[in-house]
Order: sequence, then structure tokens, then C-alpha cells
Amino acid sequence: CGIVGYLGNRQATDVLVDGLSKLEYRGYDSAGVAVNNGKDELEIRKYQGRLAVLAEDLEKNPIQGHLGIGHTRWATHGVPSDVNSHPHFNKEKTIAVVHNGIIENYLELREELQAEGYEFISQTDTEVAAHMISKYYNGDLLDAVYKATARFRGAYALGVICTENDKELVAVRKDSPLIVGLGEGENFIASDIPAVLKYTRKVYYLENGEYVHIVGDKVEVLNENREVVEKKVNEINWDVEAASKAGYDHFMIKEIYEQPEATRNTLERRLDANGEIKLDDINITKEQLDKINKIYIVACGTAYNAGLVGKHAVERFLKVPVVTDIASEFRYSDPFVDENTLVILASQSGETADTLSVLREAKAKGATVLSIANVVGSSIARESDYTLYTWAGPEIAVASTKAYTTQIVAFIMIALDFGLKKGTITKEEYMNYIAELKEIPDQVAEVLKCEDQIKEISKQLVDKNDIFYLGRGLDYSTAMEGALKIKEISYTHAEAFAAGELKHGTIALIEEGVPVIVLATQQRLFEKMLSNMQEVKARGANVISITEVTNKEVEKSSDSVIYIPEVDNILAGILSVIPLQLLAYYVAKERGCDIDKPRNLAKSVTVE
Ligand code: G6P
Repeated sequence: CGIVGYLGNRQATDVLVDGLSKLEYRGYDSAGVAVNNGKDELEIRKYQGRLAVLAEDLEKNPIQGHLGIGHTRWATHGVPSDVNSHPHFNKEKTIAVVHNGIIENYLELREELQAEGYEFISQTDTEVAAHMISKYYNGDLLDAVYKATARFRGAYALGVICTENDKELVAVRKDSPLIVGLGEGENFIASDIPAVLKYTRKVYYLENGEYVHIVGDKVEVLNENREVVEKKVNEINWDVEAASKAGYDHFMIKEIYEQPEATRNTLERRLDANGEIKLDDINITKEQLDKINKIYIVACGTAYNAGLVGKHAVERFLKVPVVTDIASEFRYSDPFVDENTLVILASQSGETADTLSVLREAKAKGATVLSIANVVGSSIARESDYTLYTWAGPEIAVASTKAYTTQIVAFIMIALDFGLKKGTITKEEYMNYIAELKEIPDQVAEVLKCEDQIKEISKQLVDKNDIFYLGRGLDYSTAMEGALKIKEISYTHAEAFAAGELKHGTIALIEEGVPVIVLATQQRLFEKMLSNMQEVKARGANVISITEVTNKEVEKSSDSVIYIPEVDNILAGILSVIPLQLLAYYVAKERGCDIDKPRNLAKSVTVE
């Protein structure tokens, strides 16, 4: 979910709707606002559906008022519906609350409040917050929020307003992201920076357990003991433009096309004048590296798929066994984590709750935690021992593209740097790989030229029910990402298979016309892949292959071939995924899907 809040001289709803539009990537199954109209009343509007529904209503029936809170929802507790949408409020409608996160003990608190006569109208955990704050409210909103939150377990970023004071906004952050935007005579709270960037570049990042008290044009941040905290003002130096579509039909295709630049930025920000990788802030010594006997790469979704590729790079250059795992599984698998473990986390948003909890647990067990994150100042970045940022820029489309390719670049850089330090690769190998990495951005641009060919191929796939993706070794990892991409945005069922395993069961599903996308970029596995292609071709599959331009033999057993430049095996995944991203995009487009905001998904899942 995403929250915003405003107190200033503008009409609050204008700011709230605009801010929410920048937060829709956090969920978009309902949206709402509450505004203090200056007449001792809170006007609340909230609707199931996209933000557009709310915006249209506000246009027809505007609310006047300069203090308000807003919310865009991704349902967890309670189905998407008008009544479950935020803001939530008490019976008298004197207090309104927006919330991102989960109040884990809400059932118990709800029962307690019900026993005291409070009536609940929604199924959400957030309604507990509204009633609990009103229970403790005695003319002092901040005090009531302190007392109420002392009762909550779980994660929450809350924005709270009341009828009594139209110049007061209270917010709090615990385990869910929240920033404060500092304007001239006006101030903002928001789950993420793009929501306030139109109005100000000055922000406070809040820490867990910090409370924000905005009264008039003054902002105070307080800690759990109600002491005022001196906050550093951060200047945001990236652009709102970077978060808008710039002429493309969708954010996703824009972001696909940003990959040459994104990979270049990620790499070049970390190369020094001698062309060597500099990770001075990640100062893990050779002695520490020698002690590390286990590496876990942990992430969710697309970042997990990047971690599967990352494993190949880390094992190759560091010669330490690596296990890549899904955060929500890893956390509860009682993993072997101790002081000699390195945990590498990958997360675009840096806010994914599953990944964040792995971080905290790994640290508690003494592991060294290194994160690869895209959002500067995000929770995962701040809490890790070390962070390597990908410089992909804001990624808005729910389906991740440029974050994935830049994460792979980051994994390779880490593996090379650590490998050189540890002595598991030679300086010469190291320099050769860097030289090859530097070619990648131009090669990505080269691969993007297959767009027209992909458009044609997508027409063959548009009415298929199942698509198979095959690969061996690193190609299998890329296949996983290709399948995920097409599932999430085109709603076509797709599965990735280790090509050699197909014959042990799943080949039963191959029949006339079934599309099989085959990745064949790993030289030592190439001949095996040729056999796998023939196996499916013989059973009538429509074989679409992706391979290097030197491997013309694939044409004999393929219906279509997409060529990528010749490249080292470890780097191939950065190039071979590009046609798969484009294919997912064009199949989804042909099918008329809502590409940037696929159903049921959220860009950033800040609940476990
Ligand atoms: C959500 C998104 C995915 C993303 C995953 C991990 O599920 O829909 O696209 O890969 O979260 O996000 P992160 O921000 O941690 O990379």
C-alpha cells in the first residue's frame, strides 16, 4: 500500500491524488482520502478500484481543505471493497487513519475494543488503529498515537488526522517505509519520494520508531521516548521526469529501453580511473573472505531470479558454494547461518518485507549481510552491513526489467572484486571480464533491435494457453525469469524447465503447436541443448530459440531464432533476457492486458 499526507496552503486533495498516482505501484485495488474541511469535519471518500475512480469523484464533488491523508491499497486483510479501503475512521468520524503494513495482533485488539463498545464496519486490521487512537484521544493527537501504537505488534506506517485541529498531522513509521517532504510553508508525508517530488526535493528519511508531528508549518520528529530527534535534510537529485513515461506507451517498455543506460550506470559508478572495480565502502577483507564458507543469496520474485544468475558468477569467481533461496522460504527453513556466512540480498525496492526479515535474522545470527538494492536509503540498504546500489533509476512498471539486468551486473562485480581479493581469480581474468562487462550496455542496445522480430513472434503466442521455457545451467535461470515475466503481465501460463529434465515428465505436455522457447547460450551445454530442441521439435513444438550469432546450427531445429552477440557465458543472461522481456511485453499488449499494473500484483510487497 502507499500513503500520503499533506498540510499547507494548497487544496489537499490535489496534492493527495497527485501523490497517490506516484504510489500506485505499491498497490491499486482501491484508493481514498480524508480531508479536514476546516468546519470541524472530516470528509472521507474511498472507492474500490483504480485511483481514477476516486479522482473522478473528487472532480465532480471537490472537497475544500488544506489538511488531508490519502491511501492506495493492496489488499491483505479484507477483500478490496469501498468499506475496506482507507482511510479508516472512528464512529464519530473525528479521527481518520491511513496505514501501510500489518497490525499482527489486530484480532485480539479488535475483540478488546468490541467488548468496550467500539463498532467495526470493515474486515481490516487498520480499523483497529482508528478506534484505538480514538480511545486514547483526549485532545492530544500525538499522545493518542503514541499510546495506541504502544499496543500494536507488526509493521505500520500511519498517517493520522482529526477534526479538532485542521493544522495538525501525525505520522509514525515502524517497519513500513515513510518519508517526510519539507516544503515552503507546507509539508508532506509519503511512503516514497516520487509522491512529493513535484513539490519539494527536501526530505527526511524516517527510522523505525520515529513519530512525525506536523503542526502549522513546523515539523518535529520524535523517537519512541517522545524526545525530539535532529534529522538530516536529504536533497533528492533525481528527477520527476525519470518517474514519468517520456513518450513510451508503458513504463515497462520505457524501462526495457533504459537498460543500456542502467547497466552502464551500475558499472561505471563503480569503476575507478584504472578501470578497476572499486567497492571501498564494502570493505570485507581477504581474511574475512577466507573465513566465509557459505554464501546465501536470498530475494523474492525477479530479484530471486537475478540471484539464480548471480550464483553462477559468485561460484565461478569465488569458489564457494552458493545457495540461492526465496526469502519467504529461507526465513523459515532454519538455515545454517553463522559468523562465517555471507548473505547477499537483492531487492529493487529495498522494502520487500520477506527479504527484510531475512536480513534482520541473518544479522542477529552474526552473518555478514551485503545487499544489492535500487532505492537509495531504503530499509534493506540502510540495515545491511554493506550495500551495492544498482543505478537503474526509479522502476515503476510492476514487472521488473532494468532492476533485474542491473542486479546481474552487480552480482558479477561483487564476484569479480571478491574473487580478486581472495585470489580465486587472476588479475588478468579480472581485467578481461571487466573489459567484457564494459561492452554489455552497447550489446544490450544491439539486442533491443530484435523488437520487430519479437512483435511478429508474439502474434503466434497470443492465444496460447501454455508456453515452455527451456535452458541448462545459467540459461535455466534466465528461462525462469522469462517465464515469470510472461505470466505476470500477459496472464499466460508459462513454465521454465531445466532442458535435460523435460524428458522425465513434462515432455508429455508437448504437442503440435505448443510454443517452446529455448535458451542456448552456454557453450559447453550447446550440443545438449540442440538435442533437447530436436526432442520437442519432433513432437510438434513451435521452437523459438535464443542463441549467439555464431550458433547458426540452431536454425535446423527452430522455427524462429533470435540472435544475441557473442559473449562470455557468465554475461549471457544479461543479453538473452532482453528478447524474453520484449516477448512478454508484446504478448501482453496483443492480449490487451494492463501491462504496468497487472492484476493482483504490487510493485513493492511490504507485507510478509
Ligand atoms: C513484488 C514485485 C516483483 C518483485 C518482487 C521483489 O512481488 O511484483 O516484480 O520482483 O516484489 O521486489 P524487490 O523490490 O525486493 O526486488
